[in-house]
Amino acid sequence: MLVHRASDFEKKARDALKKIQKVEGLGVFYANFLGKKSELNDFLKSLKDLPAEEKRDIAPVIQKIRTELQNDFDAKQAFLRKKELDERLASDWLDVTKEFPIKKGSIHPISRVQRRVEEIFTSMGFEIADGPEVETEWRNFDALNVPSSHPARDMQDTFWVSSRSQDPHENTVLRTHTSSVQIRKMMEYGAPVRIIVPGRVYRNEAVDASHDATFYQVEGLLVDKGISLAHLKGTIQAMLSELFEKEVLVRFRPGYFPFVEPGLEVDFSCLLCNGKGCRVCKHSGWVEFMGAGMVHPNVLRNGGIDPEVYSGFAFGFGLTRLVMMQYGIDDIRLLFSQKKSFLSQF
Ligand code: DAH
Repeated sequence: MLVHRASDFEKKARDALKKIQKVEGLGVFYANFLGKKSELNDFLKSLKDLPAEEKRDIAPVIQKIRTELQNDFDAKQAFLRKKELDERLASDWLDVTKEFPIKKGSIHPISRVQRRVEEIFTSMGFEIADGPEVETEWRNFDALNVPSSHPARDMQDTFWVSSRSQDPHENTVLRTHTSSVQIRKMMEYGAPVRIIVPGRVYRNEAVDASHDATFYQVEGLLVDKGISLAHLKGTIQAMLSELFEKEVLVRFRPGYFPFVEPGLEVDFSCLLCNGKGCRVCKHSGWVEFMGAGMVHPNVLRNGGIDPEVYSGFAFGFGLTRLVMMQYGIDDIRLLFSQKKSFLSQF
């Protein structure tokens, strides 16, 4: 009897529906129990072969089964979809406001001071220039009026990149100072020129707390008409006062560097005692800062500039030493150590 078969079917369908735990299972259920190829559809199709009376009785029963099953199916589908969504939301949940213990990096103290120095010189009209760390012997020494017999050229102080031939234009060294860039830029720009050159330099030295085989310098070069030592003093005094955020005095002492005439040693007034004398300045009131002077006529000529028309000042200071002074770092090796405990202080 069709009615019995229908009610068996209904029971089977309900049991099957009850067992479904996942949205995935719904497709197969639908195909088996409600779709075009389902047994239910067969019932509906077979109705038309029944005698009219029987059909009248049984059709509503089957329709009712179909409607109810469809409703239950819809309800189950909605329930399972919501349940799965809730589960996903719960497991994928992310608190975007939560603070993670990520340690931020920081700017290395050398870069920090370098940037500040660059800002100050730029504000005074200097340009930032750059040059290669592997330089010809000629630009590093000869063009700067350093005699070929000068002890700085010998094996102790200079890292020679090429083996040393007769021709200083052929020979290459790791630049021992940023002064080598003076020649490059004079040739490139001509006069007037107003540059600073921050950069890495190399010396073949024994490493200890205050010496490293590599360190940073800042070179300065200003060439124009009518330039004197007064311009140099004013420039350096203004730069240091800006950098240290207090009035700093500058003192010149005679010094010798082959590329300048006259050559000078430049000191600034001790920041700690303001010139009164303390342990840091060895009770002199002054701190040694850099070498400087008026650019030697030979150097101007080597850079393609006429010393009869132009004059200029040049200076070179140790950026690494300046950083150590500013932050009270007593061992140069810390700066390149990559020690987190050291670096995280900045
Ligand atoms: N190049 C020198 C050094 O490394 C520093 C220096 C001295 C640079 C005098 C200059 C200068 O431009 O005029 O020790």
